Parts: sequence; structure tokens; C-alpha cells
Amino acid sequence: MGSVTKIDEEIREDEEEAQAKVEIWKYIFGFTNMAVVKCAIELGIADAIENNEGPMTLSELSSSLGCAPSSLYRIMRFLVHHNIFIEKPSSQGTTVYVQTALSRRLLKKGEKSMVDLLLLESSHVMMAPWHNLSSRVLNDNNSPFEGAHGDDIWKYALANPVHSKLIDDAMACDAKLVVPEIVEGFPEVFDGVKTLVDVGGGNGTTLQMLVKAFPWIQGINFDLPHVVSVASESEGVKHVGGDFFESVPKADAAFLMVSNKCIFFSLQNWFTITFLQS
Ligand SMILES: C[S@@+](CC[C@H](N)C(=O)[O-])C[C@H]1O[C@@H](n2cnc3c(N)ncnc32)[C@H](O)[C@@H]1O
Repeated sequence: MGSVTKIDEEIREDEEEAQAKVEIWKYIFGFTNMAVVKCAIELGIADAIENNEGPMTLSELSSSLGCAPSSLYRIMRFLVHHNIFIEKPSSQGTTVYVQTALSRRLLKKGEKSMVDLLLLESSHVMMAPWHNLSSRVLNDNNSPFEGAHGDDIWKYALANPVHSKLIDDAMACDAKLVVPEIVEGFPEVFDGVKTLVDVGGGNGTTLQMLVKAFPWIQGINFDLPHVVSVASESEGVKHVGGDFFESVPKADAAFLMVSNKCIFFSLQNWFTITFLQS
């Protein structure tokens, strides 16, 4: 009985060892998922197939993108393996690449596009702090972003307009996903609200969408001066620059949306909505 248990244990250890041999490669090359998807966005692969209004062969795709078929083939093979595009035989006997729900997230424009968030998170600036993660754990008050760049993200954005625009566009991308859920799920919250301030509202996309859905609202988009100074004008939305640690413009209600949470305050009530998808 004892030797059977010992054999079982040896078999289990061998299986664990064999699995570890395979699994470790996921971590060694884990970065490739993000890198190849970023490459697909920059090349405009999903956009080319969408503009073609139908599947494309490798040679059609490579001439449309202006790149060598052999290099593109390797990228497509990776993307197909990850079910981002589908490979199908065409009626002419060649292979064509077909768009999927996932590849449509890689379109540069459109309701479902997640490109701006992907380009922000995969940027050198946002990746550098991840290389400092262990120092964050060892030294509790050490921000990885500050460790990598010497300033917090908002001061860094003030000094680097290109990165600031990446942040604003990414936040607008997030707003386009989240705001329709608020409009559909909680319209009653906006009854009787004549003025609404979005605290840290970025380029004002959230308020633009809320004012469109609830046209009786006058929106005040409040953010740092360098953010609102480059935000586009939009009817029903006034941009105000300032620091929310000092004061926030007066309004009937205030709205604060960060990452997967949205907090709504008014004189009558306040509540938090948590979005599972973000
Ligand atoms: C994580 S983003 C959220 C953007 C937007 N609410 C959303 O969820 O899509 C945080 C926003 O707060 C702004 N912000 C950061 N510090 C601020 C401050 N002290 N005063 C005003 N706005 C600030 C940033 O510029 C940025 O637009």
C-alpha cells in the first residue's frame, strides 16, 4: 500500500514537472500578446479588412498595408492562433483572413474600438513602472510610476503633451464603454439634475454623452488646466480647469469616474456603481 502511494506521488511529481516545463514559457514570452496586438493596431490590419468589406488573402492584405507577405504571415499566424482573426479557405482555394468580434476591438475608430486604451497601456511610459514592481513591494511608499519617471503620472503628463493626449484618448475610450451602461441602467439618477460636474472628467467625453442622453443637464467638465485647455468644445459642456484637492465647481450633482467605479453625489443621494467589465 505504502509503495503504491510512493509511485502515485512520483507520477504526480513527474506530471507537475512536465507541466512546469511548458508553463514557464508563458511567462518568458508573456509580453508577446501585447506586442503583437500593438503591432496589428499600428499596421492597421483590422482597419484594412473592414475597409475591404470582406475577408482578405495574405497577398491582398500585405499590398494594402505596404509590407512583405512573409513578415505579415508570421504576425497573422500568431493572431489566428489567438483567435483574433479567423483563417478560412476561400472559394478560389486560397486562404483568407476574416474579422472577429475581438479583431473589431482593434479598429482605430468606432464604438467598440479599444485601441486608445491598448496604446496607452502598452506605451513605454506605462510599461516602465511595471519593471519597478518589486521596489514598490519592498518599499511601501514608493510609487512605481515615480520610480520610473521621477514624477507622478499627472505631473508627467503636464510636461509631456504627447503622453497627456494618450491618457485623455484612453479615458475617452473607457467612457464610451461605460457611459451607455449608466444611461441605460440608471437614468432616474439624472432626473431634476440641472447642473452636473464631472470631477477629473478628462477631455469631457463622459459629459458630452450624458448631456446628449439627458439634454436638460448643463455639464461642467472639471480637470487639470493642461487637460481642459486642449479639450474640444461641445454644446452643453463647459470646461473648467483647476485642482480638485483645492475646490470643485458648484453644481446640483457631482460625478466621479475612475477605472471600474463611478460615484454620483447629489444633495438627495449618493451611490457607487461598479462596472464588472472594466
Ligand atoms: C483616471 S482619469 C479618469 C478620467 C475619466 N473620469 C474616466 O474615467 O474616463 C483621472 C482624471 O483626473 C484628472 N486629475 C488628476 N489629478 C487631478 C487634480 N488634482 N485636479 C483635477 N483633475 C485631476 C486627470 O487629468 C484625469 O483626467
